[in-house]
Amino acid sequence: MLSIKRLWQGNKNDKMSSDWNIQVYQEDKGFQKFRQSFEANLKDCTWETHPKYSVFTQYDQEFYLKERDAFEHKYRCFYAVSKTIAPSKIIELGTHAGASADAYLSASPGAEYIGLDQYEDGVLRGLVHHVDQTPWQPREVARQLFEDRGFKNYQLVKVDLRSLDKLPFTSDFVVVDAAHDFENEYADLRLALTANPTFIFVDDSDDENEAKPAIEKFIRRDLKGKIGFLFGINYIGGGLVIKLKN
Ligand SMILES: C[S@@+](CC[C@H](N)C(=O)[O-])C[C@H]1O[C@@H](n2cnc3c(N)ncnc32)[C@H](O)[C@@H]1O
Repeated sequence: MLSIKRLWQGNKNDKMSSDWNIQVYQEDKGFQKFRQSFEANLKDCTWETHPKYSVFTQYDQEFYLKERDAFEHKYRCFYAVSKTIAPSKIIELGTHAGASADAYLSASPGAEYIGLDQYEDGVLRGLVHHVDQTPWQPREVARQLFEDRGFKNYQLVKVDLRSLDKLPFTSDFVVVDAAHDFENEYADLRLALTANPTFIFVDDSDDENEAKPAIEKFIRRDLKGKIGFLFGINYIGGGLVIKLKN
């Protein structure tokens, strides 16, 4: 079977075949510029996941190791998204142990990063690492990862996103990657909008049962007249860039 990477490289005309790239945006100059830049940044990407701190070493690493090529590709797509946007500030809803933040910050090292997560005090409470059986402490792992990479301009904020009706910061780039059930996904998308971003990036956007209907509701109800373009990215689980009108 072809790996996801081979599929991506295999057919030039099919590179952006996600159905989020609906016809209406294909002629948009901003969409075309973004697509060209994203493709070049992905092709030129030499960034690699951290050898000690990544999804391939985290508590449930076996899940990611089973499809290593596909997940390497996914995290390189994160890198290319960040490189293309070149944000000055990144807010991520759902930092976990920092694997995605590593990709975003490595691509845009001048950006400030604010990660919001409940870390070990939320849905991850009580988890142990499947290999060494030690308590899983994602915020500490993220801190060690950031220290090793030399990232200094960041905050890892422990908070229940459901306790917020507004993000405490504005940001040009907000990543939505916390809980992906319909209610939480929709609530997080609305929360993302309160930071007044230029770009929202939604990870795992292809889930037909939960995330996708929530994104569609968000687009219909909350983004009327506000969308510059949508840009879907083909990787395991799928990603969606929402460019808002300035
Ligand atoms: C899919 S993981 C994030 C993965 C990470 N972005 C990466 O790619 O490495 C989802 C994260 O969302 C967090 N989360 C889920 N619901 C939350 C909530 N209501 N408030 C804060 N964090 C939440 C979890 O603690 C978990 O760390």
